[in-house]
Amino acid sequence: MKFVLLGYMGSGKSTVAKALSNQLHLPCIDLDDYIVEKEQMTVNKIFQTHGEIYFRLQESKYLKEILEMDSELVISVGGGTPCYSNNMDLINQHSRSIYLKGNIPTICQRLKNEKDQRPLIADLNDQQLTEFVAKHLFERRNFYERAHEIINIDNKSLEDLLSEVSLSIKEYLK
Ligand code: S3P
Repeated sequence: MKFVLLGYMGSGKSTVAKALSNQLHLPCIDLDDYIVEKEQMTVNKIFQTHGEIYFRLQESKYLKEILEMDSELVISVGGGTPCYSNNMDLINQHSRSIYLKGNIPTICQRLKNEKDQRPLIADLNDQQLTEFVAKHLFERRNFYERAHEIINIDNKSLEDLLSEVSLSIKEYLK
C-alpha cells in the first residue's frame, strides 16, 4: 500500500512523512526532492529557468512514476501537486491519501520563516503572505478535500500529529 500526505505549503507533509517512514519502517519519497534529484536543479531554479508550467508537467510525470513503483511507500507531495492535471485522481487510485489540514493562521505562522525556498511566496511580506494564503487555500480546498482522510494539524505538536497519522495508516498495513 502507498500513503500520500498532501496539503498546503508548510503543513508538515515532508516532516510527518519522514518521521512516519522511520516509525513504520516504510520507505519514503518526497516528490519535491525527487524532482530536484531528477532535474539536477532546485525547485526555485526550475521555476526561474523554465517557468511554472514546465515545473507542473515534470511534477505530474514524476508523481506518476512514483505512484507506479512496485513497493509500499510513504509519499509527500508538493502543495500544488493535487491541484494540477489529473494528479488527484492518480493519487486516490494508487494510494490511501491523507490531507494535513491547517487553518490560515497556522499555515502563515509556519511559512513566515521558510519562504525563501518557495518560489510562489518568496517575495511576499507578512501582510501579503496572509492574503495570498487565504485566497490560495480557498482555490485549492476542493482538491485537497478529495483526500480519503482529513487530519487537522492546528495546535498539534509533531508527536501528536504523528501518532494520529500513524494510527490511521496502521489500519491499512494489516
Ligand atoms: C508548491 C509547493 C512546494 C513546491 C513548489 C510549489 C505549491 O512544495 O512543490 O514550490 O504550489 O504549493 P511544499 O508544499 O512541499 O512546500
